[in-house]
Amino acid sequence: MEQEKLIQLLADMTLEEKAGQLLQVAGSYFEDEGFVTGPENKAGFTAEELKLAGSLLGSAGAKKLMDIQKKYMEQHPHHIPLLFMADIINGCRTVFPIPLAQGCTFDPALSERLAQAAAAEAAACGIHLTFSPMADLVQDARWGRVMESTGEDVFLNRQFVRAMVEGYQGKADEEGRVDLSGKGKIAACVKHFAAYGAPVAGRDYNAVELSERTLLDDYLPAYREAVDAKAAVVMTSFNTLDRVPSSGNRKLLQEILRAKMGFEGVVISDWGAIREMLSHGIAQSEREAAKLALEAGVDIDMMTTCYCRNLVCLVRDGEIEESLLDRAVLRVLELKNALGLFEDPFKDADESKERELFLCEEHRALARSSAAESFVLLKNEGMLPLHRKGQRVAFIGPQVENRSIFGAWSILGRQEDTVSIADALKKEGLDVIFARGSLFTEDERLMAVSGETRQDRARSGKMLEEAVLAAGGADAVVLALGEHRMYSGEAASRAQITVPSCQLELLRRVCEVNPNVAVVLFTGRPLDIREISDRAKAVLVVWQPGTEGGSAVVDVLYGRENPSGKLAMSFPWCTGQVPISYHEFSTGRPYEEGMQDRYLSRYLDIPNRPLYPFGFGLSYTSFEISDVALSSDVLRRGRNAAIYAGVRVKNTGKIPGSEVVQLYIQDLCASVARPKRELKGFIRVPLMPGEERNVEFAIDESMLRFTGIDMKFASEDGRFAVFVGSSSETMNRAEFELMS
Ligand code: BGC
Repeated sequence: MEQEKLIQLLADMTLEEKAGQLLQVAGSYFEDEGFVTGPENKAGFTAEELKLAGSLLGSAGAKKLMDIQKKYMEQHPHHIPLLFMADIINGCRTVFPIPLAQGCTFDPALSERLAQAAAAEAAACGIHLTFSPMADLVQDARWGRVMESTGEDVFLNRQFVRAMVEGYQGKADEEGRVDLSGKGKIAACVKHFAAYGAPVAGRDYNAVELSERTLLDDYLPAYREAVDAKAAVVMTSFNTLDRVPSSGNRKLLQEILRAKMGFEGVVISDWGAIREMLSHGIAQSEREAAKLALEAGVDIDMMTTCYCRNLVCLVRDGEIEESLLDRAVLRVLELKNALGLFEDPFKDADESKERELFLCEEHRALARSSAAESFVLLKNEGMLPLHRKGQRVAFIGPQVENRSIFGAWSILGRQEDTVSIADALKKEGLDVIFARGSLFTEDERLMAVSGETRQDRARSGKMLEEAVLAAGGADAVVLALGEHRMYSGEAASRAQITVPSCQLELLRRVCEVNPNVAVVLFTGRPLDIREISDRAKAVLVVWQPGTEGGSAVVDVLYGRENPSGKLAMSFPWCTGQVPISYHEFSTGRPYEEGMQDRYLSRYLDIPNRPLYPFGFGLSYTSFEISDVALSSDVLRRGRNAAIYAGVRVKNTGKIPGSEVVQLYIQDLCASVARPKRELKGFIRVPLMPGEERNVEFAIDESMLRFTGIDMKFASEDGRFAVFVGSSSETMNRAEFELMS
């Protein structure tokens, strides 16, 4: 529809109809009967309010959504189509590895393909927009939602956020236009603006306290990347930032998002977040909250009655300008128009396409290979890969037969479609021994989350004895342990990020009877795995791998795939060490392992370094990286000026493999303290045995900018250290000077 017609449509709408466009409610209100007719519902919306709601969330299915759309439009005074939004976070019906696992591939192009595949399935089942990517930087593994991010590093996150937006929506053309109406495309909503990933003490929804410089340099860039990639929508976060909740934060939404980042799309609140301003204690009524949010710049109210019940009277009473309401409504109409919904309100919804795409061979293959690529091998004392012949392996642990191995928000994921480790082994006809060994947990509070019962607990002694017997009779043991999927995700913060004690007891008992133990760790977050790392000969982190998770685990365990993942988030020494990131600052009292002086920046009881650092991950082969050579030790300012950091990488082992070569830079002296190192580049290098390759990173002035003492984003002349290697701890170092 032409813009003038859209503006005319807006002019023809009543205030009630306009407010309706800004209301988003759960699709469940419209399901079954196809349209809600009941007088009142749980969240308190009246049928009249629901009839005018502009968008729905959380429903999927071509037939269902087409029916809803048809009935809705028939009764709508202007026949304006609904927008269907949903959380398509890590795949759709075919579930891919969680975003944190995707981060560990250091392969954003892969995430773009995964997002494309997810978009194709989602579009076929009627969805127009996904609440993804989550661009929140995370450094505190207690927070349950670290699984939805691609990790602790701003540079890495930026690459993934862009890849995902482009995967869902397609790439913007030179004029910055994206065609959202294209087949198989869905709009992207970047979230949670801003800094939701830094709640105090890792407790979900808690306040965020950051310095302005940290916000600017570390937390905002990934959202900005999404905006630059033309993400259609931005979602506000639940938290306060500098003591102001995001949904009422004018500075954040107006000055930063709209003015500085140039965002022109729709801003949507997170679920219930506008009304939560009452609980935050910055609004006394829904009416006040509605006024605050609209004036701050929130266009759509997700799941509260604040907007639909108050905007009309706020305008009538002259408390807000109608033009403010109009601007928000126009943005929503423009998004519907960009998706082509005025021409075709069903867009790509198509039952036969849905059948064709859901779990199709191509998507399953992608699920399988991407999962394998995301696994991180943390330790391997000659135990892996296993041998197909001549080795009797016992597969033990609560994760062996578990099919619930997809991450939070896998709204269409089904256990019956998912391949567990046991399924994959059976499919391949591998003759192995199985034993459950233990429950996920025997801790009362966690049991309530994973659904285990006291009756289950009564069986646990017997389970353990059977497992010990099985382990004793095997040549090698694979222990599949870790978090139940419900232990991470939204509202799943944990104060003790350990593997539950009954699983550790299983590990101890098994190790007593068999020294050849490899642990396969399922988890949505980095955990304290000191004991596992001490006792097991091999540790493979497989995250929440999705529909083909079990197949991918078997591929890697038996060497069909060679692991190449690198940690996108450090595994801490223990919970007391979090938040932790390699991206830390120099202190006035630097400490190196082994130093005796007490008055240094250190702990008395644990090391400063994490158990496994960011960027770390082993392979079944070995690599050698030569000393880093700089093309010049002076970088002069000037357009297109660059120097090059080069290394030679060699596969020194006997099988093909890929190494992720990483570039870090440290600004040695500046007007404010700078991080000890920052990731500035990475390249995945596939190499055949014996093969070597030169790898080169260009370094230019723009990579050296930060927010200085004057709050300007610029680089400062001086010396810089360059590190190139296979993890954030590499000591392979050179220096150069930036000068005018
Ligand atoms: C979450 C968002 C999500 C939304 C809609 C909220 O609880 O914080 O990430 O997109 O629900 O499902």
